[in-house]
Amino acid sequence: MQTNSETAAAGNIPFPEHLQNQKVRDWIRDVAALCKPDKVYFCDGTDEEYDRLCHLMVESGTFRRLNPEKRPNSYLALSDPTDVARVEDRTFICSLRKRDAGPTNNWVDPREMKGTLNKLFDGCMRGRTMYVIPFSMGPLGSAISHIGVEISDSPYVAVNMRIMTRMGKKVWEVLGDKDFVRCLHSVGMPLVDGQKDVAWPCNKDHKYIVHFPEERSIWSFGSGYGGNALLGKKCFALRIASTMGRDDGWLAEHMLILGAESPTGEKTYLAAAFPSACGKTNFAMLIPPKSMDGWKITTIGDDIAWIKPGPDGRLYAINPEAGYFGVAPGTSYKSNPNAMDTIKKNTIFTNVALTPDGDVWWEDMTDTPPPELMDWQGNRWTPEIAKETGRKAAHPNARFTAPAAQCPSIDPKWEDPSGVRISAFIFGGRRASAVPLVYQAVNWNFGVYMAATIGSEMTAAAAGNIGQVRRDPFAMLPFCGYHMGDYFNHWLQMGRNASNPPRIFCVNWFRKGKDGKFMWPGFGENARVLKWIVERVRGKAYAIESPLGWMPRYQDIDWGGLDFTQDQFNTLMDLDREAWKKEVLSHEELFEGLYDRLPKEFMLMRELLLSSLWRSPEHWNLAAERY
Ligand code: OXD
Ligand code: MN
Repeated sequence: MQTNSETAAAGNIPFPEHLQNQKVRDWIRDVAALCKPDKVYFCDGTDEEYDRLCHLMVESGTFRRLNPEKRPNSYLALSDPTDVARVEDRTFICSLRKRDAGPTNNWVDPREMKGTLNKLFDGCMRGRTMYVIPFSMGPLGSAISHIGVEISDSPYVAVNMRIMTRMGKKVWEVLGDKDFVRCLHSVGMPLVDGQKDVAWPCNKDHKYIVHFPEERSIWSFGSGYGGNALLGKKCFALRIASTMGRDDGWLAEHMLILGAESPTGEKTYLAAAFPSACGKTNFAMLIPPKSMDGWKITTIGDDIAWIKPGPDGRLYAINPEAGYFGVAPGTSYKSNPNAMDTIKKNTIFTNVALTPDGDVWWEDMTDTPPPELMDWQGNRWTPEIAKETGRKAAHPNARFTAPAAQCPSIDPKWEDPSGVRISAFIFGGRRASAVPLVYQAVNWNFGVYMAATIGSEMTAAAAGNIGQVRRDPFAMLPFCGYHMGDYFNHWLQMGRNASNPPRIFCVNWFRKGKDGKFMWPGFGENARVLKWIVERVRGKAYAIESPLGWMPRYQDIDWGGLDFTQDQFNTLMDLDREAWKKEVLSHEELFEGLYDRLPKEFMLMRELLLSSLWRSPEHWNLAAERY
């Protein structure tokens, strides 16, 4: 598979003619000299190249081609069982000063880390091809977009990056002689002395996901999976980009972006942050219930938002990605029909199960599992075996990689280089108790405080910890590339600078009743809450003041077609004073380590919140006669 842009000698790199950027050329030369690959290959982003690399991986055993009658142009990859998820404990923010990384990130002195990495990367690509992958996060040429170059020894990374980003030759033109984010990745398994490759190469002993924020560079070693390896996603678009945003006055957020269209065709764009496993992709693609006739939800993005002030001082967002890297288990025609239609073709599946007729399956994809499967580790799986052993057919973090353009609910403006104007931010977590369905912060600063203290409860899977709340500020705990206290200050500053800043709301789809069942039906029904939010933003919906902020009354929500009583609603919105006092006091845990850089405003807001809870009746309830 030797082409013009490939060479056997890394010292003599046949740069494509259209790549004239000296900084890129120097960097590629340095990396090739360090990693010592057999070949260097420049990705051009064409269909032909994508097919060729997929074919190569079918031959090497990394990919299985799925039945083209069932899933055209789609593949299944099964990873090494030890390389299945992001490795937060091996993720480092190596800023020059430790205090700039803050207490929520792992930090090592950058010089020491470079020493460690230089040793690991020395010769790490022997026997392999080094892929040079130019990519744009965001539409090519948009003022909100930024360019990166990933160097990787994994063809799996190259084809996934083709789906997840705007990747290929055109990027060199847009880059011109400007600077770019350097993303270096190796699976960390050189092939020396004729050593045979494996289907999923990785390094079991050494994993490092390292960010050098001042250099705007990323070095990732030892893993081939997801956010560890597709460096445009969490590493660049969140950790590095968040520091770029801090320095240059914009925001890189772990948020979906959606459009809500009213029956009169009025469009409102919102961005929402939820921690992992809280249904971001489902929310981004939701289909409103039939009774909400004429309301339509459109999708801009499902995971990341880059948000910059426009010339009018309002905030505009793009989805920097071009694909979805979604969690497969739990995705079904019930939970997310748009996602199911998105992944019908041209999709890469990783760690899902294979059906005997060459299609894919995962837990909860259908009510009844197929009688027999090959599970994500290549073993025979039946529902009986699952019952006996608890073994899953798909790994809980199994993924699909699919082009965003295939999503039936994709918004017509999803590639608009100016982005879409954001009217509201929504923050949520998984909270079985205490937190009401929806409330609106009284102002920007209170909204920032609420987002900073968002928590998510551990689920039944972690038996001992049920109900234990983990604070996940802005759903950014694993993704903020700098000191969390500085991040809160940056958000406050963005509000001061913005003209008419977006309104801020908190939601909780996961509250449970005394019977242990979810009180709210969720999924498409969330559109009812969204409608209230949109109407609030547009000054059309009523709300009353509660100790937490503005709340809808029963009559402020559209209940058409849903049997949900006023009593049920009141219980769902109930605010237990004692529980909330504990909740607010527990914010201390998060703040403890951040004190030196915590916004002064936060202490004041906490006091205000406590005193308004103090003054409220024991159970502040919408049924109370207080309004
Ligand atoms: C993701 C995550 O993969 O948040 O999107 O972990
Ligand atoms: Mn995510």
